Amino acid sequence: MQLFENHSLLPYNSFGIAAKARYFSPVRSMNELDTLIAENKKSFQLPLLILGGGSNLLFTKDFNGWVVKNELKGIELVREDEDHYYVKAMAGENWHELVIYCVKRNYAGIENLSLIPGNVGASPMQNIGAYGVEIKDVFFELEAYHIAEQQVVTFQAGDCEFGYRESVFKRALKNQYIILSVTYRLRKVPEFHTSYGAIEKELEAMRVDTLSIQAISDAVIRIRNSKLPNPTKIGNAGSFFKNPVIAEEQYRQLQTKFNNIPGYPNAATVKVPAAWLIEQCGWKGYRSGDAGCYSLQPLVLVNYGTATGAEIFDLSTRIILSVQEKFNILLEREVNII
Ligand code: FAD
Ligand code: EPU
Repeated sequence: MQLFENHSLLPYNSFGIAAKARYFSPVRSMNELDTLIAENKKSFQLPLLILGGGSNLLFTKDFNGWVVKNELKGIELVREDEDHYYVKAMAGENWHELVIYCVKRNYAGIENLSLIPGNVGASPMQNIGAYGVEIKDVFFELEAYHIAEQQVVTFQAGDCEFGYRESVFKRALKNQYIILSVTYRLRKVPEFHTSYGAIEKELEAMRVDTLSIQAISDAVIRIRNSKLPNPTKIGNAGSFFKNPVIAEEQYRQLQTKFNNIPGYPNAATVKVPAAWLIEQCGWKGYRSGDAGCYSLQPLVLVNYGTATGAEIFDLSTRIILSVQEKFNILLEREVNII
């Protein structure tokens, strides 16, 4: 097992924040993981931070603990039935590479989730989603390592309590498990999801006549590249806030004051695009030093170079306060604050 002390986290977070970890270890096997956990129990007793691709967290200070970089690798077709392929991927595999692997083999179900940064292990953590599909739609089971017991446990979909950018691993079981692998159930005959957002328009622009999961993946990649900042050029962690879900009654009241407020009804609630609320408060394109609100998608906060995590966090607090003042809606951060 490799152990680095006072290690820079700059290459390991898509926000490009120059934080440090007291200890840092890449973990490439179960044996290394077991040794690390046992060593921490015996000698260090430090808080652990399990790191995947670092694309959904913001370091607001140095991490005074042990960063465990999950680098478990492998993708395998473990089972097939009449309608499905069951693909098991280890937590340290890159998410988008898994999508490409499946699209190439015509394993359908995750093509709408193309180009989401990060690794497989984090995909069930926050039930990643985009363009009308979420992980819960294709999830079969996962294996996770119980840190206290040093045992591997299997979770079925029903155990994971998936919700909008939520799972049991962010709530009741927070910091208790390390996700080791995820098995996805993918379809032999695709069910195309093209009604969300600009997918249909993009497919037309691409002059696609025969729909395929490859075409959908390509369309999603083009849309994402057109509006989301590339973290290798501008630091960010995708949507900084969740889209708030409010009561229908509150939405109707807001409509009397803001008649063009967008909203997506579901049961007795309405999901309001946070990007719209933030834009209405005048933040779109805002920049203070190197911390900013992205000009093409105001839900994304950005680091233009040397912003600190604390500066980005302060900006997020100012945005929350102004949205609350204008609309009486409390935005919730989607990014994990460390
Ligand atoms: P990390 O940032 O490394 O970790 C995230 C959290 O999960 C941390 O709390 C970490 O401790 C925990 N964690 C990570 N791996 C494990 C593990 N193996 N076991 C236990 N805990 C673990 N997300 C979407 O849902 N939809 C999008 O469309 C989307 N678009 C994005 C676009 C951009 C440009 C960027 C930068 C981000 C976007 N995201 C999106 C957010 C991000 O890509 C996802 O949340 C992704 O799943 C994070 O993966 P990661 O490996 O980088 O996780
Ligand atoms: N909008 C504005 N101004 C803008 C941009 C958008 O008002 O400048 C409004 C419009 O009303 C638009 C709406 O916001 O219709 C929605 O915008 P968009 O389609 O870009 O999606 P989003 O709701 O902002 C969500 C996810 C993304 C995901 C996309 C596509 C959340 C928090 N974010 O963004 O996920 O990729 O939908 O499905 O749910 C992420 O989680 O990091 C992420 C990027």
